[in-house]
Amino acid sequence: MIKYLGSKRTLVPLLGEIASASGAATALDLFTGTTRVARKFKELGMTVTAVDTASYSEVFAKTWIELDANECSVIELTDAIAHLNGAEPVSGYFTKTFCEDARYFQPANGERIDAIRNMIESEYRGSWLYEPLLTSLILAADRVDSTTGIQMAYLKQWSKRSYTALKLTDPGLLPGRGFALRGDALEVAPKLPAADLAYLDPPYNQHRYFANYHIWETLVRWDAPEVYGIANKRTDVREGDHRSRFNSKPDMPRAIRELIDGVNCQTLVLSYNNESWLTKEELIAICEPRGHVEVVDVDFKRYIGSQIGVFNKAGERVGNPGAKRNTEHVLIAGERKLVNKIANRIKI
Ligand SMILES: C[S@@+](CC[C@H](N)C(=O)[O-])C[C@H]1O[C@@H](n2cnc3c(N)ncnc32)[C@H](O)[C@@H]1O
Repeated sequence: MIKYLGSKRTLVPLLGEIASASGAATALDLFTGTTRVARKFKELGMTVTAVDTASYSEVFAKTWIELDANECSVIELTDAIAHLNGAEPVSGYFTKTFCEDARYFQPANGERIDAIRNMIESEYRGSWLYEPLLTSLILAADRVDSTTGIQMAYLKQWSKRSYTALKLTDPGLLPGRGFALRGDALEVAPKLPAADLAYLDPPYNQHRYFANYHIWETLVRWDAPEVYGIANKRTDVREGDHRSRFNSKPDMPRAIRELIDGVNCQTLVLSYNNESWLTKEELIAICEPRGHVEVVDVDFKRYIGSQIGVFNKAGERVGNPGAKRNTEHVLIAGERKLVNKIANRIKI
């Protein structure tokens, strides 16, 4: 999995327990990001629909959620990976933009990324291997980057891992059924068939994922965009198209109410950070139209970048380290008997 702000690594076991206790056979993950929650649901045997606005997230969802490992040839995938690992390095847009003009990756790895990404485009577009190979490339690039986990800045000194040669590995497909959709949860959710469980994990602040992970967007789109600023972000980061209502403090409460109103599910699960815009009481009030609400508070270690601080191109600190721990509120809403059954199973 890539390093990802707001990724639910530590919450996955709990979310899996909640989903199992609910008896869900179908599940929605409407802000799927890395897809790690959707993957857990799929591993538990549910048919999952994973939704997100990000292009890289759609690639992950097509790889891990939509493809059924039982219907794919592992040999074909591992052969393609071996073939790409043998690519002759070439210096192109990626190397120039993200390794020379900026320092997100060592140039030697940038040249491998340029070469491999070109080969994926010319040799695998239209094949079922396209998304798993892109996933494999993003995972490999993430393992050798020189950031704290977001692409708003890179480290002043090369990270230790950046010296490792980039190598693609098998992303590991999962058996089972699922669907991947790229789009705004507010538009997509009301059109989806009823699901037993819906999980909502919206962004917590004004920072847009499109900007935070602009390199993964570019690596997937492979559109060599104009860039700007010290972080060499895509110029379309500045345009309105990629704004999410969940990144707007005044609009977010209305957006989440609309979403909760529009999603057709039996059990609704919402996670939200205690340092963000809505208090626990407000979150409960927002979920109450779905029925009875129970809350689990999970204390966890903060994202590493916010502990270290953020640095600009000159290596100056431009963001201060935050508190080391925070709390994630997990709200479960639905018919009282079912929510109580889930609460008993997870011992709230
Ligand atoms: C907190 S992260 C989700 C993390 C995810 N649960 C995981 O474990 O990786 C929020 C996600 O919401 C996505 N997003 C933002 N606005 C959205 C919208 N309107 N509709 C769908 N996805 C959106 C972002 O791209 C980001 O991946």
